[in-house]
Amino acid sequence: MITVADSDELISSLAKLPRPLCLVPTMGALHEGHLALMHEARKIVGAGGTVAVSLFVNPTQFDQKEDLKHYPRPLSADLSACESAGVDLVFMPSAQQMYRADHSIVITENHLSQFLCGASRPGHFSGVCTVVMKLFMLFRADSAVFGKKDFQQLAIIRRMVRDLNVPITIVGHATVREVDGLAMSSRNIRLTPDQLSEAPMLQRSLRAAADLMKMGERQSDPILSAALFHLQKSSQFRIDYLSIVDAENLEPVSMIRKPAILALAGFYGQVRLIDHIELLP
Ligand code: PAF
Repeated sequence: MITVADSDELISSLAKLPRPLCLVPTMGALHEGHLALMHEARKIVGAGGTVAVSLFVNPTQFDQKEDLKHYPRPLSADLSACESAGVDLVFMPSAQQMYRADHSIVITENHLSQFLCGASRPGHFSGVCTVVMKLFMLFRADSAVFGKKDFQQLAIIRRMVRDLNVPITIVGHATVREVDGLAMSSRNIRLTPDQLSEAPMLQRSLRAAADLMKMGERQSDPILSAALFHLQKSSQFRIDYLSIVDAENLEPVSMIRKPAILALAGFYGQVRLIDHIELLP
């Protein structure tokens, strides 16, 4: 496994790597969910291709300084995880290497990012789009794999690739969950044991609400109320948003006639978690 910290070094290393190349962009603090993305990448490129992983806690996508400060950075465990997943190249630049002091161009998405996390985290998706585009340009990757847990991020990246004609295939990978249903997230390790044992109720609440669909419910309000009823049993979890949106354009819907997403974000203390469930009429 090659590790590269510098973008000039990266470009010369990349020229020598076998193609096709699949990129797995991450912010590190790797867990089973990330490893599943790496295995998916290997399936895509085959034994002879290249799986590249970026480990970069991108400062421009954090709207809260504290969140950036406390974001876990277990570098040696991350490198061992990449090694064991058979990754060929790990790129781990510093913020100074990624962003010149006078960098002045960013990518802005103007529709999908108005909703959900975009509404509560100003500038977040601009930071994500900009860094992801920079990674795509550095790697000239043939494909890239992203987790479906961040479904809004995935939708926005697909839109960016479509609208800016980026020659890359974007692959979404199913959310990887703990056996108790909690979506794997790098932030989970910041939960207290108490919060960690309660947190699976997020997915349970969404499932219970989604079950109303099986009984024929198509209006959003009763489904949202059912989710809220379960979520409010927790005295610790503070809801940021709970919303039903169209699965394609992410606009809120009051009646579910097409595939939709019941999406949730909230906090245990300072730790922000998200989860969702698909609603198929
Ligand atoms: O999903 C993430 O970990 C990040 O948003 C990404 C895509 C690596 C960009 O920094």
